[in-house]
Amino acid sequence: MGGNDRVQTGVEGFDAMIEGGFEQNSIMMIGAEAGAGKSTFALQYLYNGAVLHKDAGLYITFEENKGQVYKHMKRFGWDLEKIEKDGLFHFMQYMPHEVDKFFKDGTIIEDIVKEKNIKRVVIDSVTSFALLFENEYKRRLSILQLFSALKKWKVTSLITSEGETTNTGDMKAKFGVEFLADGFIAIHSIRRKEVRDFAIEVVKMRGTNHVRKMVPLKMIDGKGVVLYPNQPVFGTATSF
Ligand SMILES: Nc1ncnc2c1ncn2[C@@H]1O[C@H](COP(=O)(O)OP(=O)(O)OP(=O)(O)O)[C@@H](O)[C@H]1O
Ligand SMILES: [Mg+2]
Repeated sequence: MGGNDRVQTGVEGFDAMIEGGFEQNSIMMIGAEAGAGKSTFALQYLYNGAVLHKDAGLYITFEENKGQVYKHMKRFGWDLEKIEKDGLFHFMQYMPHEVDKFFKDGTIIEDIVKEKNIKRVVIDSVTSFALLFENEYKRRLSILQLFSALKKWKVTSLITSEGETTNTGDMKAKFGVEFLADGFIAIHSIRRKEVRDFAIEVVKMRGTNHVRKMVPLKMIDGKGVVLYPNQPVFGTATSF
């Protein structure tokens, strides 16, 4: 029973795994290896928020530039330019070496959040953000600083993180940052012969009785991230 205080991702099949959506004002993290769909999932969260709920979103990236993101997301059927014009999408890019600037801009970002009534924030990725700090202590401190800003802004955040698969098949975020978030979603990728399959797993979600089963995931042209809750993960039946 999610109740209506949940922030729906609108990713079909996903909200049902987490009692209807993210808890308001929580900080969620999505971790995966390269190219598994972290940025796509995160942008889908913002796009659906804008289109389905009229929630204004802010996308802060340390990685890709605006033209590139807008062009690629158009392939999934999402017109970011349109929702930007409608005041429901805001794009901010910082080069990785501009982390200092990001913190200096803190009040500017806070003003934007207030002025534009931002409800959903994505940070892509915390790995690029964290990479700039020379030791574990400074890294943790800066991430905690970032998280406390997000909590203060009363937004519901989704943060991407590079992850690696352990030899027991678990997903670990780089620098162990998943321990700091309220929730951790993993996209696992597994190669079977010549095919690479993906599956999503809710590893943790504070205050939520979430599904613990992995669910197959694909990125589909014209649609974005699509889940297949009724199909077996890494099923063997149709493999060639
Ligand atoms: N139009 C499309 N249709 C289907 N799949 C696509 C399409 N465009 C991109 N992809 C897939 O999505 C992948 C990129 O997804 P995304 O950028 O969300 O992953 P990521 O986990 O954020 O990657 P990175 O680690 O590079 O940040 C591509 O490598 C490709 O496999
Ligand atoms: Mg990415």
